[in-house]
Amino acid sequence: MPQLTVLGMNAFEVEAGKKLVLALEDNGVGILHRCGGKARCTTCRIEILEGDFEDVTAAEKKAFDEKGLVEDNIRLSCQVRITGDMTVRPIMTVQTSGMEPGPRPAE
Ligand code: FES
Repeated sequence: MPQLTVLGMNAFEVEAGKKLVLALEDNGVGILHRCGGKARCTTCRIEILEGDFEDVTAAEKKAFDEKGLVEDNIRLSCQVRITGDMTVRPIMTVQTSGMEPGPRPAE
């Protein structure tokens, strides 16, 4: 099973094909997902530190353009499926923002 490493936390074994946002949440990371995984809010974004990721989706590009986000190595965790080992840094969490996470994205 792929290994998901979260900066400043433990590494977790996660099911291949699982959405990254759900893998984070199910392993105790307070990742935000305010729009419920619809690629609109960008609160689920993470920085990629290591690993193979599929290309940025059209939905992510649209969301980043709308929010004026142009940083490299940033992805929406609701649009990424785990295909191999990866290391990530969540950008906004329940702990750092004080916000409720939002509706759980679909599997
Ligand atoms: S963009 Fe809203 S949960 Fe991913």
